[in-house]
Amino acid sequence: MNHYALVPAAGTGERLGGQTPKQYLPLNGKPMLFYSVQRLCASPRIKRVYVVLARGEKWFSQHDWKAFAGKLTPFYCGGETRAASVLNGLVAAKAEIGADDWVLVHDAARPCLSTELLDKLLDELGGDSVGGLLALPVADTLKRADGAERVQRTEPRENLWQAQTPQMFRYGTLTRALQEMQNREVTDEARAIEGLGLHPKLVVSDARNLKVTHAQDLPLAELILKSMERA
Ligand code: C5P
Repeated sequence: MNHYALVPAAGTGERLGGQTPKQYLPLNGKPMLFYSVQRLCASPRIKRVYVVLARGEKWFSQHDWKAFAGKLTPFYCGGETRAASVLNGLVAAKAEIGADDWVLVHDAARPCLSTELLDKLLDELGGDSVGGLLALPVADTLKRADGAERVQRTEPRENLWQAQTPQMFRYGTLTRALQEMQNREVTDEARAIEGLGLHPKLVVSDARNLKVTHAQDLPLAELILKSMERA
């Protein structure tokens, strides 16, 4: 059984504003996408890493990816949504991946994935029939708002987890799940797998594997990356 990684990087990152798509914003002098690619390419357990880019985009080729030659394949086949980008990437890689091979989908916007967490995910899911994802039990008290930024009520946080990436599923199952969910709101791979009536395994992650979403996340990600370099 082989493992492949697929990095959806075809978003515009509108929430961060600005002209540069989020995945190309600099973190400690390198584009955000570099870090996910580097981490996944460095794993001897992952056979190939695909990045899914927006059709015709000009950003990727402006950076130096030579260090990953032979392991990294860019596909210019991004879709309207993250789920569409992932599905397009899976279809583009069809000739190389077997139905029972594992695919790890990891967001370009999560540059602080550690080798330890990646290995933990691979170790815990290797023998699993469904697959699963890195995730974090919710720590904060949860409030439901009324639409006017007033608390309507407090929600129980018991058994609630925040989904992260990588998310790891069999190629055949994931492709079918995403195809079947094409007209539904699907913000991660696990949601599509759940649509097949399957129950992905939650693998305990940590808060450093954050998704860069708002401007204030950028300096935080830079600090985390620096501390990982020192470790
Ligand atoms: O915008 P958000 O942070 O939710 O995006 C998560 C990941 O999905 C990012 O790496 C982004 O580039 C990717 N994406 C994509 N195609 C889209 C939208 C988002 O590949 N149409």
